[in-house]
Amino acid sequence: MKVLVTGANGFTGQHLVKTLVGKGFEVIATSRNESKLPSYSNLNYYNIDLTDVRNVENLFDSTRPDAVIHTAAMSKPDECAANPELCTANNIQATQYLLSAATKAGTNHFVYLSTDFIFGEGGPHDEEDVPAPLNFYGASKLEAEALVNAASLNTTIVRPVFMYGPVWENLRPSFIQWVAGKLQNGEPIKVVTDQARTPTYIGDLCWGIRKIINEQVPGTFHLAGKDIVSPYDMAVAVAKHLNLPLDLIEPVTASTFPEPVKRAQRSGLKIDKAVSILGYAPHSFAEALQKCFE
Ligand SMILES: NC(=O)c1ccc[n+]([C@@H]2O[C@H](COP(=O)([O-])OP(=O)(O)OC[C@H]3O[C@@H](n4cnc5c(N)ncnc54)[C@H](OP(=O)(O)O)[C@@H]3O)[C@@H](O)[C@H]2O)c1
Repeated sequence: MKVLVTGANGFTGQHLVKTLVGKGFEVIATSRNESKLPSYSNLNYYNIDLTDVRNVENLFDSTRPDAVIHTAAMSKPDECAANPELCTANNIQATQYLLSAATKAGTNHFVYLSTDFIFGEGGPHDEEDVPAPLNFYGASKLEAEALVNAASLNTTIVRPVFMYGPVWENLRPSFIQWVAGKLQNGEPIKVVTDQARTPTYIGDLCWGIRKIINEQVPGTFHLAGKDIVSPYDMAVAVAKHLNLPLDLIEPVTASTFPEPVKRAQRSGLKIDKAVSILGYAPHSFAEALQKCFE
């Protein structure tokens, strides 16, 4: 199967490309800038800006993928709030260009990476809960979901939460590496106790997406972790796992950091549907930490 991965330089994109290449897929990877990926015989990389429709059409004309995994996005809520036009172009228009080009090229399956930010308070949410985004980023991802649902090809929406995983050179760190780095340098950190999340271990997300494209499973799936934790719980677990000083972690409430955009206090996603339909069996946070730092 020939799979096109957008956002291939990003955290999710790099992990997905590595997984799919390792499993023998023919991978077409694309991102805006020069490739940050190693070279493999079954990987071809194209750096294009997806907000230019001609780039997108040319990419599909020349590569003709069987499946698309669309991870590219303006993924930082604060940046989206500061530049809503750019967010609209990157998160909504680019998704429409990809859907149209995929339909025209006869692509079999389109997988879209969405987010728990399409919901408001009251998590963890299941797939049927009513969306109520609290910020522009969440609203842009919800609008892109509507485009995906309206498209006339086989589509799947995958919603992860606050992703973490191992990193390597040229891959941006996730929250757990930020915590580890600060504590290793002896720097004190303030971490929020009053936000609940169900963070997704990237290895579980890659497993779920591979299952979805192999079996062409349509619909919407929450691919999150099974533990409900706060960022403070996560930081303490990292410190304990790496034997780093716990007293450098100061528990604070979210009000300590006045943020430009609103975020849910209690977010997170329920995974029962993915468990029953896909056989999704995510690692616990403690098990995943072991894998991230081994
Ligand atoms: N990270 C999380 O915790 C999280 C949680 C829930 C959902 N999500 C969703 O999951 C997806 C992946 O997130 P991530 O954190 O892995 O993202 P990321 O690390 O920020 O990477 C996003 C990638 O998208 C590419 N990109 C952005 N705009 C582009 C454009 N106009 N044309 C071409 N490429 C473009 C960028 O490429 P260059 O680097 O080459 O510029 C970047 O590498 C996103 O859709 C996000 O909304 C993320």
